[in-house]
Amino acid sequence: MVIAVVDSGIGGLFVLDALCKKYPGEHYIYYSDNLFAPYGIRNAEFLKNRLYEISLFLTGIGAEEIVVACNTMGVTAAEHVSQFVSVPMTWIYPEAYPEFEKTLVMCTPMSAESARVEELVKRGATLIADPRLASIAESAGGASRAAEEYLENILGCRCGYDTVSLGCTHYIYFAETIKRLTGAVRTYDGVDGVVRRAARHITGEEAFRIDMVFSGEDESVKYRAVLGNIAAARAGCGHFRGI
Ligand code: DGL
Repeated sequence: MVIAVVDSGIGGLFVLDALCKKYPGEHYIYYSDNLFAPYGIRNAEFLKNRLYEISLFLTGIGAEEIVVACNTMGVTAAEHVSQFVSVPMTWIYPEAYPEFEKTLVMCTPMSAESARVEELVKRGATLIADPRLASIAESAGGASRAAEEYLENILGCRCGYDTVSLGCTHYIYFAETIKRLTGAVRTYDGVDGVVRRAARHITGEEAFRIDMVFSGEDESVKYRAVLGNIAAARAGCGHFRGI
């Protein structure tokens, strides 16, 4: 089937990669809303409208399932928008391990306002809502020295955590640095969970292919480099402009 994966940028490539590895018999469309990134400093109304528009566009070009690979949209817009979209929609959201050890949750400012993140804080998690980290990941195409320095600044005195919940897919690029700086033994990113939920609809009937859609500048060369050997080597090569 045709599965669309949506994010504001390169963070959702982790979800795409995991889906491709697990379900290679599908046609994937990766939608990067790079014209409107970052999402983390927008508001819920904007994100709902945007996700609805993107969903109409994606179903219009044949998407049969939409996977929202963005926590910010996941916690603020997806549940609402899924009611008005004609294909199944699945979304990622910030989570913590059930046993809930000493946990640090990192997410965007918009996600921090959501009921889901508030619940994690109520259960005892410490929260860092950062307005810049996703953009830093985006401009460097993942991890970079600039990101390390930035993380050293925001995490400098935050140690003694068992787990860090990476509540933004862009932060997965920094998992190792975040573990080192916080002393955490593990990170949690929600990718396996969203892949599992998405799998309920997967049929495995297509020739493997990845198309990329950008609402702004065509960054397919960068994105395919980020995906690296994982998926790009096996992918088709379509990329075209979105709405
Ligand atoms: N990668 C997204 C997330 O998981 C959004 C980052 C952003 O655009 O601010 O929240």
